[in-house]
Amino acid sequence: MKKIFITGATSGIGEELARRFHSEGKKVIISGRNEERLGEICSECPGMSYVLLDVSNHREIESVSRFLMADHGDLDTLINNAGIQKKLSFEGAILPSSEQLTAEIQTNFLGCVQLISALLPLLKRQNKAQIINISSGLALVPLASAPLYCASKAALHSFTMSLRHQLRNTSVQVTELLPPLVQTNLHRGQNTPLPHAMPLDQFMDSAMNELKKGDEEILIGPVKSLKRAARFLPKRIFMLMNSRA
Ligand SMILES: NC(=O)c1ccc[n+]([C@@H]2O[C@H](COP(=O)([O-])OP(=O)(O)OC[C@H]3O[C@@H](n4cnc5c(N)ncnc54)[C@H](OP(=O)(O)O)[C@@H]3O)[C@@H](O)[C@H]2O)c1
Repeated sequence: MKKIFITGATSGIGEELARRFHSEGKKVIISGRNEERLGEICSECPGMSYVLLDVSNHREIESVSRFLMADHGDLDTLINNAGIQKKLSFEGAILPSSEQLTAEIQTNFLGCVQLISALLPLLKRQNKAQIINISSGLALVPLASAPLYCASKAALHSFTMSLRHQLRNTSVQVTELLPPLVQTNLHRGQNTPLPHAMPLDQFMDSAMNELKKGDEEILIGPVKSLKRAARFLPKRIFMLMNSRA
């Protein structure tokens, strides 16, 4: 890992990944929608640079990818981190708008797929390269109150497995990082208390350690037992999670 490009790096997990890799001496290019915040982070991390990228916008993905190919030919790591989560209800008379129906699929899933596809020619040129997709424990067992978020992460989980298989004879390693509930801005505006959320620092310590081991699928904290439960007691764990929620 020499030069890393991270999406959605203006807060939470993406920002911390950028700071930690930067502090280890890696070259890091961060991206996001909030230029002021991107500039602030870069000013605190000498040598880090940024590019504006809304991952829900295919044209921006294409132009940023062209820029990376032209100006950062040594880019060897892509971290698909940008994500949004919304609570959506199909119960009442007022159904989600068409924008609400597509936002999470576009940002959390299609944006990753489009960026991977645009950057693969560059990544394949490197002797060793890595794609890291940040999915979620909710890819394994859905939380019914956030149905499209969970569907988008399940789609990313499935796509990551297929991509890994297809790229098995190339120089590109495909990694999936599945966080548990972590204290970040992801749930802002949802009015949901998060007493069980893992502190961000604790999550980052585990994630950085696990990433160094080189495993293809990285389950952090409670996601390990969630995966076992999803396999052996799928209905029970679904009911347990959703009755608590
Ligand atoms: N926190 C958790 O409990 C948890 C659990 C499992 C998985 N995850 C995953 O971890 C990843 C990071 O989330 P987080 O917890 O760090 O939440 P966060 O603090 O809200 O960070 C999300 C980042 O994504 C950016 N973003 C959102 N939509 C974007 C778009 N269209 N284009 C570019 N950037 C966009 C946000 O920037 P703006 O300020 O511009 O919106 C922000 O920088 C997400 O993929 C999330 O699903 C989080």
